[in-house]
Amino acid sequence: MTIAADPSTLRDEIAARLDTARKRTQRLTDCLDEDELLRQHSPLMSPLVWDLAHVANQEELWLLRGVGGRDPMHPEIDPLYDAFEHPRAKRPTLPLLPPGEARSYAHEVRGRVLDLLERVSFSTGQLVEHGFAFGMIAQHEQQHDETMLATHQLRKGSPVLRAQAPEPAPADVLRLPAEVFVPGGIFTMGTSTEPWALDNERPAHPVDVPPFYLDTTPVTNAAYIGFIEARGYDDQRLWSQAGWEYRQKADLAAPLFWERGGAGQWLRRRFGITEPVPAAEPVMHVSWYEADAYARWAGRRLPSEAEWEKAARFDQASGRSRRYPWGDAEPTPARANLGQHHLQPAPAGSYPQGAAPSGARQLIGDVWEWTASDFRPYPGFVAYPYREYSEVFFGTDYKVLRGGAFSADPVACRGTFRNWDFPIRRQIFSGFRTARDSDLA
Ligand SMILES: [Fe+2]
Repeated sequence: MTIAADPSTLRDEIAARLDTARKRTQRLTDCLDEDELLRQHSPLMSPLVWDLAHVANQEELWLLRGVGGRDPMHPEIDPLYDAFEHPRAKRPTLPLLPPGEARSYAHEVRGRVLDLLERVSFSTGQLVEHGFAFGMIAQHEQQHDETMLATHQLRKGSPVLRAQAPEPAPADVLRLPAEVFVPGGIFTMGTSTEPWALDNERPAHPVDVPPFYLDTTPVTNAAYIGFIEARGYDDQRLWSQAGWEYRQKADLAAPLFWERGGAGQWLRRRFGITEPVPAAEPVMHVSWYEADAYARWAGRRLPSEAEWEKAARFDQASGRSRRYPWGDAEPTPARANLGQHHLQPAPAGSYPQGAAPSGARQLIGDVWEWTASDFRPYPGFVAYPYREYSEVFFGTDYKVLRGGAFSADPVACRGTFRNWDFPIRRQIFSGFRTARDSDLA
């Protein structure tokens, strides 16, 4: 976000971001009864009531205790809501706060945080500079809201969430080239100036990226059905060794939540509604292994993380990296499908106002995009404000996803924002686009 220089505007911005996150948390939890909030809808996820008190507990830890120097409100509950102490599968067995108590704890913490915000000086250290800790907490709640939305998608039962479908793609989609060219050369990756960027996005550093071609839009359901119908799931040559082993073990045959309907039609379940798979929408709920196999089938490959970011941010004309594909201005509903305004991605080729200088569309919003890259630190990385934010996840276990999805809020989605997950993950709102080398050296 663009950070105001004067403290009173910054206070207002922070309060608004915290409020947006809390309203979304309420929207995701007020629609379910106590039993549904306490139930574990999938072993992959926490009960929603855990997320509810966990966001409040983190807010208390970082803002009331960390920034405000207050004593713990309920020290006995801290261990219950420590994500590193209890894996998701075990969380239902913990003596968690029941929904009513979790809500009043969150409400009380928020009230005290807003009092603190009125009086805090933003010049007393790195944690509060430009309101960083407050921004981190707004992002944290939004990231849990996204996880809670994934829990809703996994939940069985009648639909409780509703939203308008996105606009159909504009007419110029028919004239879009299948791929865009990104010239070779050095560009600036990451950021040292974005005030609420997290440690793993820092610092800005030069990266030399050879010329390449990138899909103009994410891969669509129609294109992905081509891979399925060509028996791509049965052709071991298309899969990495680990991918093939997982495909066999998990018996993968289509994206998660898909099933075959009559007359060769594919159906999908989306937030409790079963509907025909829309051909023009970006494919979603595929693992990294499936994305990798599809790309090989198409005679292409996944883009590296650096390629993705260069296509999204680098402006050849000015020689600089933008904050977002469209420029430095904040996301709007006309530029990107973010913030759970719609409960699905928009058709491929939508959002011409959000296009990058390269001509690629929907790099921000719609679906998270798997990249070829492992999650690794940038040169000069410094863990902040704690090792467990990113550093403990670096290595070869996780693949990077970029660009956010309809399920991600703008506060937790930047041109530099990095997400990471295991290559087997499918319950997340993950899609991809493909790339190929250019023979122009
Ligand atoms: Fe968390």
